[in-house]
Amino acid sequence: KLLIVDFGSQVTQLIARRLRELNVYCEIHPFQAVTDAFLDEFAPLAVILSGGPASVRDEGAPRPPAKVFELGVPVLGICYGQQVMMQMLGGHVERGHGTAEFGRAYVTKADEQTKLLDGWFTEGREQVWMSHGDHVARLAPGFEVCGTSPGAPFAVTADTDRNFYAVQFHPEVHHTPNGKRLYQNFVRIAGFTGDWTMEAYRDQAIAAIREQVGDAHVICGLSGGVDSSVAAVLIHEAIGDQLTCVFVDHGLLRKGEAEEVVTMFRDHYNMALIHADERDLFLGQLDGVSDPEQKRKTIGKLFIDVFQKHADTIPNAKFLAQGTLYPDVIESVSFAGGPSVTIKSHHNVGGLPEKMGLKLVEPLRELFKDEVRALGAELGLPKHFIGRHPFPGPGLAIRCPGEITREKLEILREADAVYIDQIRKHGLYDEIWQAFVAILPVRTVGVMGDGRTYDFACALRAVTSVDGMTADYYPFSHDFLGETATRIINEVPGINRVTYDITSKPPGTIEWE
Ligand code: XMP
Repeated sequence: KLLIVDFGSQVTQLIARRLRELNVYCEIHPFQAVTDAFLDEFAPLAVILSGGPASVRDEGAPRPPAKVFELGVPVLGICYGQQVMMQMLGGHVERGHGTAEFGRAYVTKADEQTKLLDGWFTEGREQVWMSHGDHVARLAPGFEVCGTSPGAPFAVTADTDRNFYAVQFHPEVHHTPNGKRLYQNFVRIAGFTGDWTMEAYRDQAIAAIREQVGDAHVICGLSGGVDSSVAAVLIHEAIGDQLTCVFVDHGLLRKGEAEEVVTMFRDHYNMALIHADERDLFLGQLDGVSDPEQKRKTIGKLFIDVFQKHADTIPNAKFLAQGTLYPDVIESVSFAGGPSVTIKSHHNVGGLPEKMGLKLVEPLRELFKDEVRALGAELGLPKHFIGRHPFPGPGLAIRCPGEITREKLEILREADAVYIDQIRKHGLYDEIWQAFVAILPVRTVGVMGDGRTYDFACALRAVTSVDGMTADYYPFSHDFLGETATRIINEVPGINRVTYDITSKPPGTIEWE
């Protein structure tokens, strides 16, 4: 197995993702946990040192044990991992000042070549995603330069004799389009054969659920999203009648969503399903709340309260199942006390009270979105359902910046329905990873017919992504945008202005809050 040492990068999990696509088994461990004894026990066939937010120039900067370089196995350092590697092996790292790079860059081929870059360059250069302040100023002995970029003369370096490799950019993100090739070369160098599959994961997950749950009862929070749906079907397959699903209508769902979910799980899957209409409770508690974190925490807490209320009515209910994904975990709490910075409290992790009467079952905790879809297909969920765009637990609350009112939610639901209808009609739904409308907390002046209007503005959002960790805005045609704006303004009372959000992630996030 392969060991990924995590220094707290926001995208460390994607390294694991890329490796899984290559059917290689790997584990991520925080750097604090990686001691000499740990390395003896784990016995990795290869080691990857992740990126991270620290600077190796700082006192007490995180480091792997020196033993990592004495194991005689291939080591790949990425971004911070590259810098810490160079510093520990006798090179020199300097602070940014003018050489910092964030975003797209191009790496060109150097004279020296390495197996790591086999088949990597197309036309002698390759697009990569950079995100660094510091840079390597002098290589450690034994290393050669194999690729350079304007901001990183040592973009790719290798010590071929020792099988040490170091790259300044992030090959794991989608915006390094050919990054997978580097990992493929790396695992090949390390001698992996690639025998880890989704089918194996399903069997393993079912066995693990049975073992964890025993003869107790599980309640599962169904949100209507793909994640919780796949989790529910997986758990249902594992333990059948021991599962009861609770679908909470928090008043923050899209148009028609409640009916669709209830029909599918109750009628089609024959699952025990409680349809909890808690619209008044949630909207009441959110009244006057405009801070995004406050919204998330309020909703997260109420979710748990509601679950618990229903759990109390089910005999022997000891577990709460959630469709938490890897990205939810990494962006909230990469690991206890770890160096990763909190961007948003995703409700399924952040809102959990310490002393909850239920234990968690989270069978998707190690999966990325597209893996969850693959698992859903493996479990026989309908294609249109698996293909649905992701929908966040806090729902429309985080698409309604500022205070949430029933009026705004109603307008938002209608506008969103028109927008999604447009996208489907134009055959774009499956090309887009996620699309939605956000209603803005501003009213603007317009003119309709001969009258003045003073209504809300809204923003359309549509992104392409593979995993939600990075994203690009979708390049709609002007015709499409114009037609959609006209439809929304004509069909949705309360909106008189439509804008299109063209921010990528990073620096933006997909949701507005
Ligand atoms: P951001 O806005 O962080 O979103 O770029 C990335 C993906 O995660 C979804 N998201 C959530 N999903 N609970 C969820 O289950 C949450 O609290 C949450 N917040 C964001 C978002 O819709 C996007 O797909």
